Amino acid sequence: MESIASAPGKMILFGEHAVVYGEPAIAGAVNKRVTIKITKSSTNSSIFKSDDLGFEAELNTRNKRYISNRGKPGIIKYILEILFRFHDHSPIVIDLSLDIPIGSGLGSSAAVTVSTLAALFNYHGKKFNKNYLAKKAHEIESSVQGIASPLDTSVSTFGGLIYLSREKKIFKFTNKLQSSFVIGYTLKRGNTGKMVKSVRSLKNRYSKIVDPIITSIGEITDEAKFAIAHNNQSKFGELMNINQGLLDSLGVNTKELSRMVYIARKAGAHGSKITGSGGGGSIIAFCPTNEEKVFRSISKYDNALKVRFSNEGVIVQNR
Ligand code: PMV
Repeated sequence: MESIASAPGKMILFGEHAVVYGEPAIAGAVNKRVTIKITKSSTNSSIFKSDDLGFEAELNTRNKRYISNRGKPGIIKYILEILFRFHDHSPIVIDLSLDIPIGSGLGSSAAVTVSTLAALFNYHGKKFNKNYLAKKAHEIESSVQGIASPLDTSVSTFGGLIYLSREKKIFKFTNKLQSSFVIGYTLKRGNTGKMVKSVRSLKNRYSKIVDPIITSIGEITDEAKFAIAHNNQSKFGELMNINQGLLDSLGVNTKELSRMVYIARKAGAHGSKITGSGGGGSIIAFCPTNEEKVFRSISKYDNALKVRFSNEGVIVQNR
């Protein structure tokens, strides 16, 4: 039996970092996906491999260890945690293919986690619904990373646009917004744990200054929710730019990210900001017009990708 599942990557539109302190956030699934194929292994060992990433590793699913024959895959920790919790240790081959750059703030770890869980449950003939899947995927991410909001795993599971409320409730809302975005990414990865800690330290040292910044980001997210509902493109772009200024004040911006943010605006993006934890990783530029120009301008210096929202969450294929 072959079990295949895929899940989308995501971009955080508003509210990163503030979401850690209970403020709302908005994220959207993108039309770039991760696919996991699980088959029975023809040998006695379990294998995790990805031609797209150039690695192959032999897994010990009982003690979360691996021997890599090719490459050093960071994503393997998520796979090992999943197999440790949910697999019966029979030898399998897990094959990963993906069209999102890994470790660039586009939610590759959540997409890999969600698609691996779905493919594995399906391989074992286990019935599950999306709420259960999102919950388990969040548990895996939290356990591997030490800290994770349910935003990434929810978006990868349900697809579409997700609003995470102050009460930590997930709402999927109908998108009315034209959804042309350009993503600019550096090959320097952001470290989410490190960035979350540095914001916490700033907040502890300057709480009277930083607390209102966090609250303001929450207000921006709520305004953006209305802008999306009413397809107010100029407001949406403006709010992105304000959010970017506040993220900069929290110390998560870098020279490279800032350069991409301003290149995008100069080339005609309606708004541009860091997406995700910052300190490396990606920016998003909202381009209802000038998409090609923004794409080419960023591509001159960094990597760029054109993306759209995707309403499609996790998909399981039975073969
Ligand atoms: O860079 P990412 O995609 O891991 O996003 C991190 C977003 C934070 O708000 C900084 C942390 C979180 O868990 O929400």
